[in-house]
Amino acid sequence: MNAVLEIQGVSKRFGGVQALAACSFSVEEGSITSLIGPNGSGKTTLFNTVTGYVPPDEGEVRLRGEAIERLSPDRIYGRGLGRTFQQVRVFPRLTVLENVLVATSRSSLLHAALRRPRRSERDQAMALLEFVRIARLRDVPAGSLSFGQRKLLEIATILVGEPKVLLLDEPAGGINPTMTVQIGDRIRELNRRGITFLVVEHNMEFVMSMSDRVVVMARGKVIAEGAPGEVRENPKVLEAYLGA
Ligand SMILES: Nc1ncnc2c1ncn2[C@@H]1O[C@H](COP(=O)(O)OP(=O)(O)OP(=O)(O)O)[C@@H](O)[C@H]1O
Ligand SMILES: [Mg+2]
Repeated sequence: MNAVLEIQGVSKRFGGVQALAACSFSVEEGSITSLIGPNGSGKTTLFNTVTGYVPPDEGEVRLRGEAIERLSPDRIYGRGLGRTFQQVRVFPRLTVLENVLVATSRSSLLHAALRRPRRSERDQAMALLEFVRIARLRDVPAGSLSFGQRKLLEIATILVGEPKVLLLDEPAGGINPTMTVQIGDRIRELNRRGITFLVVEHNMEFVMSMSDRVVVMARGKVIAEGAPGEVRENPKVLEAYLGA
């Protein structure tokens, strides 16, 4: 296996809660890997440690062999690792296009608002909006989009940095079935274009149909991993969900 991302013995405690307890697994280059587990099993915390938002108490995170666990989120993004958030992050009062332009300018909101975007930035932003199929909504405030459309917008803004590895936290969470299909389709297309995915998701149909590999967490550590079919039949997995 050619691991693009390696998580090794990562632990994180919040007061009395051991959110991550020596969590270890790897993500193969070019794969769509899903990370599943009951509520509170540490999936978002793992994303936070991998992307520099929360420093781990212990353990290592390597991106293409290089340690990244002490780098800032910006530096990690700069190295080609992007992420979306469980609570979608867009600027609600900016238009859809402005949201992408802010990401393009790689600078402060104020700076982005004060200057006119260069032609090339506008073209790039529009191309990304076309890719996620919301270009027709470019002049609408992001706050008036449906939750699913916001998720597509967030994906467009993350793509500005041309990530090679993308971590998505519940891309299908809280959205309708049509939008779930659309988001799944965009993930597959990006994967065909070479982006490796690590996806946290509770929608099992989505996970099973999409993933090359599934990693299962419970109580802060990995309890099972394998092909979707293997994981589905693993009694430990069922037990973890029933016990939760
Ligand atoms: N900043 C924090 N401060 C205190 N406790 C936290 C913090 N972040 C997470 N936790 C706790 O750590 C545990 C793991 O939470 P986490 O959000 O990583 O779970 P999750 O697997 O993403 O759950 P879900 O599927 O519900 O999103 C939970 O008990 C949670 O309450
Ligand atoms: Mg979570």
